[in-house]
Amino acid sequence: MADLSINFAGIKSPNPFWIASGPPSNTAYQSHRAFEAGWGGLVWKTIGDPIINVSSRYSALNLGGQRMVGFNNIELISDRSPETNFREIKEVKDRWPNHAVIASLMVDTRERWHEFVKRSADCGADGIELNFGCPHGMCERGMGSAVGQNPDVAETIVGWVMEAAEIPVIVKLTPNITNVVYAARAAKRAGADAISLINTINSITNVNLDTLTPEPFVRGLSSHGGYCGPAVKPIALNMVQSCAADSEVGLPISGIGGIGSWRDAAEFLALGSLSLQVCTAVMHYGFRIVEDMNEGLSDYLDAKGYQSVADFSGAAVKTLSDWQYLDLHYKRVARIDYDKCIGCNLCYIACEDGAHQCIDLVDSAPYGLGPGRVPGKPVPKVREEDCVGCNLCSIVCPVDDCITMVEMDTGRDQMSWSDYQTRLTKGEMQPIPAHP
Ligand SMILES: Cc1cc2nc3c(=O)[nH]c(=O)nc-3n(C[C@H](O)[C@H](O)[C@H](O)COP(=O)(O)O)c2cc1C
Ligand code: SF4
Ligand code: SF4
Repeated sequence: MADLSINFAGIKSPNPFWIASGPPSNTAYQSHRAFEAGWGGLVWKTIGDPIINVSSRYSALNLGGQRMVGFNNIELISDRSPETNFREIKEVKDRWPNHAVIASLMVDTRERWHEFVKRSADCGADGIELNFGCPHGMCERGMGSAVGQNPDVAETIVGWVMEAAEIPVIVKLTPNITNVVYAARAAKRAGADAISLINTINSITNVNLDTLTPEPFVRGLSSHGGYCGPAVKPIALNMVQSCAADSEVGLPISGIGGIGSWRDAAEFLALGSLSLQVCTAVMHYGFRIVEDMNEGLSDYLDAKGYQSVADFSGAAVKTLSDWQYLDLHYKRVARIDYDKCIGCNLCYIACEDGAHQCIDLVDSAPYGLGPGRVPGKPVPKVREEDCVGCNLCSIVCPVDDCITMVEMDTGRDQMSWSDYQTRLTKGEMQPIPAHP
């Protein structure tokens, strides 16, 4: 059986699943429940000078039948005193010595950083996470994303932290930045032990059309909130891979953003994460989701022949490349399985109006009657010679595996845009004519 335990920059954890800093990691009571359920670690709700929160605080994007596809909050850091938080961290560590407990911190001056870093180590925390990502409230006070968005300021503050740190330091990055890699490099230059990403993304989820105020509503006003949950996963994966692939960063990565299943987790691991953090999915479904995550990841690693999480981490990082290196002579076409096709014709409309007009509606007689198809109603048929392999029809088709993208042998050697430019420069080929 694959070994799920990890050693993340010196922080040991029985599995890679950590509760991310947020409401589910607010108290000792919740931490005990999380560890009883099977989580390997947690990052405590960010500790700093206690704040006052507003009411209300959350809003969401619901799509079709699915609630909380995206989740938005204007909550600040912990509203409890540092004394209470550090005391409870000690209590949790005393009871769970082999689980990872990380203190998330956000303060302002060099002296305060030194003080809080020291208090984190004194209470037995295994590591520290610096919250440079909160995109609301705290940034107006010169903290949170105000720090994470400016690599020079981030480097200075990580430097202050490293002066006092005796336990590993993780820098949590904001996605509200043009290129997250610059912030990751700044963390590395300042001596951080690891990075975690992403924190939440600036957002407005909706406007209430009766009150003409966005949610969450606070006496006639709202505020830009932080977006998270399933909708942010693609953005988070992109940023994790960018940091993992960058030769100057070279730090262990804790992946965060929309993780809710072992599959999501495996994708974050494949793109370079070593530990995984979850907030929204726990707020939606509770601590017990980790049971499936542990079991699913373990089965997957076994099936693929990986010995451990560390073995698997980064397995897909190098399959991402700049567009200029992709093979211009590779071709796929769409193919319809008429035993599965229900005759909804969504593929036809999508290709006709939104792609390349290469699906015809033809007499259904040669294709038999698939599930629910009406006798005499035409069926879609792909003209493979005109199909550019864009994937659109297979994406809109409501039936799993009904349209598959099939590789075609073009009989042509591999050639990327970069190769093409080189050959043109050397005079080895003529420019390819544009479409008429
Ligand atoms: C209500 C709420 C409060 C949060 N509070 C904090 C916080 O105090 N410190 C922090 O670093 N991140 C905080 N986060 C961000 C999460 O730790 C995480 O980075 C983000 O939600 C993305 O992960 P997810 O998609 O699994 O929720 C909070 C998120 C939510 C939804
Ligand atoms: S979208 Fe799928 S199910 Fe609908 S007609 Fe096309 S192939 Fe058939
Ligand atoms: S892959 Fe694109 S071009 Fe080909 S049939 Fe589907 S929608 Fe049309």
